[in-house]
Formats: sequence, structure tokens, C-alpha cells
Amino acid sequence: MPSIYFDHNATTPVRPEALEAMLPYYQKNYGNASSLYALGRAAHQAIESSRQKLAAILNCEPAEIIFTGSGTESDNHAIKGVFFANGAKGSGLLTSKIEHHAVFHSFEYLEKYHGAKAVYVGVDQDGLLDLESLTQAVTPETVLVSIMHANNEVGSIQPLAEISKICRSQNVYLHTDAVQTFGKIETDVKKLGVDLLSLSGHKIYAPKGVGALYIKKGTRIHPLIHGGGHEKNRRAGTENVAGIVALARAAELATEERDTEAVRLAGLRERLWQGLKEKISHIRRNGSPGSSLPGTLNVSFEFIEGESILLSLDIKGIAASSGSACTSGSLEPSHVLAAMGVPTEIAQGSVRFSLGRENTDQDVDYAITELPAIISRLRQMSPIAPKESYQINGKPN
Ligand SMILES: Cc1ncc(COP(=O)(O)O)c(C=O)c1O
Repeated sequence: MPSIYFDHNATTPVRPEALEAMLPYYQKNYGNASSLYALGRAAHQAIESSRQKLAAILNCEPAEIIFTGSGTESDNHAIKGVFFANGAKGSGLLTSKIEHHAVFHSFEYLEKYHGAKAVYVGVDQDGLLDLESLTQAVTPETVLVSIMHANNEVGSIQPLAEISKICRSQNVYLHTDAVQTFGKIETDVKKLGVDLLSLSGHKIYAPKGVGALYIKKGTRIHPLIHGGGHEKNRRAGTENVAGIVALARAAELATEERDTEAVRLAGLRERLWQGLKEKISHIRRNGSPGSSLPGTLNVSFEFIEGESILLSLDIKGIAASSGSACTSGSLEPSHVLAAMGVPTEIAQGSVRFSLGRENTDQDVDYAITELPAIISRLRQMSPIAPKESYQINGKPN
């Protein structure tokens, strides 16, 4: 049986080049980057050269990047750090209804314990932000706007440059969670017009447990983690040298391959969608076909549960997901699909296929071959599925 991985938005395998780059920092060059002797200096040098590589990709100064332990930490740092440092300006925070929990729960925490007044702006049926509502919601009291670059469940890419204009006009900081876009599409902080940008290693074939946060020079922000003077007093804790080196190497390679890989993945995604659409009735695509991550396809299969589809796919050797990794496993319908106006009963039958480097036409064709029978079988067991949804030419599929 094949083993096909269609869950790259959840995580990715470490690519060999990244692994090769990081290994020396576990044994031969194991120094603490704060130590003054040669071993320490080598570690320090590795971190600084990694910082330069990320800065070149983001189009910023190396000093504007700090390394963190994850995308989640970067989001927390950006949101809480800016909120705490700008209390004199106001207590307004603004985000969208489709953010990752790393952003949502940071907002909720600030609302509950620190008097933040948060506004959650809606999206349209494609998952794109309602710019009119955003314009109305930003006020001089607003301290920070946090809008994700692309959504992890449906792949919709937000018009950040336009959002930035709205924030600039009110002198409000703009943070973006670019965990799903960094290395996949362009993330030039100047073109996007953002003040803070979060990214994570394990979505781009670097290991788990390393991330970074871009903080534009001059941004008023507090540290989240206190301790030693690491990262110029902005993020305490002995640096994960090996992880940082691997992140930079993976980022470099992802950027080199980005444009060709984006075209290839978009081709695979469309092949998958066309194949499923031809063979299975009562399905719909969720997301913004015109502005979407190249490898992400979210499909709702009516009358059945996403979880049972995933289990059946797993038996056939295909790994996919029913939403964000954190919410799959619960039967709560996705907050993202709900915000896009997808009815609950349809949202519950949704599957996210997120394609990546090692996927091929054959992988996609295998899924197109296996899924119709899976869907037909599950619909036959469903009390709400009409007969024509699981029959082809009068027979069960
Ligand atoms: C959009 C988005 N933000 C943040 C995160 C969290 O990143 P990490 O897993 O590095 O904490 C994820 C991971 O799924 C994500 O998809």
C-alpha cells in the first residue's frame, strides 16, 4: 500500500539538506552562543549568518529578526508584546475571525486578563477579509491589527498591502502570521507593509521547535520571555543553534525553488480538484481559487463527517486533515468555515488536502481513484444522504 502525505500545512518532514546543515551543531560545534571561546563564537557566528539569510528573504535588516521556539511563540510575542508596550495609546486590538488559535487565544487572554477591547472582523465566502469592516473598526485607540497572510485551513491569501494602507492611515501596528506563506509565496515585509511577521520552521521542511519573528525597527514591543540577554534582550533562553541553522537552510532552498514549486503544486491541486469533481457529486471547494496557497485544497463532501473520511483515507495509506491540526480530533465544526458562511452540516464533511515537495501526479491520481468508493460507502451509511449522492448510473459507486 502506498504511503501518501497530504498534510503539509500541519507539518513537513525535515529535508536532507537542512538536517545535514544542523547536525554539526549537536556534537562538533555544540558551543553556547553566549560563550566567549572559539566553540561559542562558532555557534554565535552560525546564528548571525542564519539571521542574515532570513533577512535577505524577508527584505529587512538582520537586527529586525529574533529567533523563537515556534510560530505560536512568534504570534504570542508580537501580540502581547506590542499590547503591553503601547498601553498609553489605547486598548484596542483587531483581528479576523479565521485566525489560527495562536492569535485567537492570545487575543482572548488579553481581553480576559488585561482589559483589551478586541474586534474580530469577518470574511467573505472565499475567506477574504472584509476591508470595509476593517476600515470602520480601526480607530486611533487601536494598538495592533493582526491578520494572517494565508489561512491554514482553506489557503486564502489576504490582501496585506491594502490592509497595511488602512493601518498606516491610523498609525496602527500591523502584525501578520505568515506561518503558512513563508517559503511558499513572496513574503517581502516592505511590499506587504507589515511591522511584525511570524514564521515557523516545521512548515518548510526544517525541524519543529524553531521559528522567527520580524520586528520592524522602532516598533514598541516588550519581551515575552525574560532571563538572560539573548537576542539583544528581546527573547531570553539559550538559542537552539541547530534548529536556527536548519531553518535558515530550509528557507534558502524554499525561496530558490519557490516559484517553480508554486506552479507545480497549483497544478497538482487543480488535478486533484478536477478529478474529485468529475467523480463525486455533492461536493464543494472552500477557499479563494483566485488568491490561494498553491498546495492547499479544502473540500466539503456533503452528508458525511470529515473524520470518517479521514479514517477511511488512512486505511488506504493517505494522510489528510479535517482542519487545523489542533482542532482535528474534535467534532466542533471549523471556525474558519463557519466564518465563511459554510453551513455547519456541510462544514463537518470537510477535508483539507495540503500538498508538498514529495507529492506527485501518481499520489493525486491514487487519491482520485480511492476517494469515490470511500465517499459512496459512507454516504450509503448516512441517514441523510439521498440515493443519487452515492449512485453512479443507478448503482452504488
Ligand atoms: C497559520 C498558523 N499560525 C501558527 C501556527 C503555529 O505554528 P507552530 O506549530 O510553529 O507553533 C500554525 C501551525 O499550524 C499555523 O498554521
